[in-house]
Amino acid sequence: MVNMIYSISYKENIVGNKDTNDLVFNIREDLQFFKEMTIGTTMIMGRKTFESLPTGGLPKRKHVIVSNKIKTIEDAKEILGEKYIENLTFINLDNLEEYIKDETKTNKISIIGGAMLYSHFLEDKNLFDLLSNVYATEVERIPEIKNPVRLVEHSNLTRKCSSEIVKIGQGKDRLDNNNLVDYKVVKYFKG
Ligand SMILES: NC(=O)c1ccc[n+]([C@@H]2O[C@H](COP(=O)([O-])OP(=O)(O)OC[C@H]3O[C@@H](n4cnc5c(N)ncnc54)[C@H](OP(=O)(O)O)[C@@H]3O)[C@@H](O)[C@H]2O)c1
Repeated sequence: MVNMIYSISYKENIVGNKDTNDLVFNIREDLQFFKEMTIGTTMIMGRKTFESLPTGGLPKRKHVIVSNKIKTIEDAKEILGEKYIENLTFINLDNLEEYIKDETKTNKISIIGGAMLYSHFLEDKNLFDLLSNVYATEVERIPEIKNPVRLVEHSNLTRKCSSEIVKIGQGKDRLDNNNLVDYKVVKYFKG
């Protein structure tokens, strides 16, 4: 199984902050949902998303970085600096599809960002076909972010997939003055 998971301010397709490398919002209950979804899985992410994780990475999950720059452990140590962790796997875009096909035989996979990697999956037919579900935590509120990172392909999911709401909630956004926001987790799937 290959799940993609992200949080999004869906009216403007904002998923992050270019200047800070932060998420678009930070709601404790949503991070808890992310944890439940990803624990025990192989997490595949772009290099910048890995760099935005807490130093040491996330426990009980395998970390796989997609990078065209990192080819050896020495490259990883130099480029990632203090963020470098043991047991990192790094792959490049060209062998992503093959890696997933092999890894999914034994492990559940989570695609956890960022925008570059998400849009690649949503645009590339072969990669899109490998996805089982997309879990999007959707918030209507548009945060004030000077240089937002967008995922415009999100808008096409309603046309390409069926969907169901799996969770509805309300939580404080720690990145936006603890504003109380409504969120819903929407599962997009084929068929
Ligand atoms: N809303 C969410 O749920 C969520 C989740 C994760 C991240 N984010 C946010 O997204 C932002 C970071 O996203 P991002 O798009 O800048 O970075 P990213 O996808 O995390 O990483 C980009 C890097 O990964 C490699 N890469 C991944 N996909 C690639 C592609 N299609 N083509 C070429 N290289 C590719 C390249 O590494 P090399 O340069 O090493 O070759 C590239 O520079 C941050 O603000 C972060 O907080 C949001």
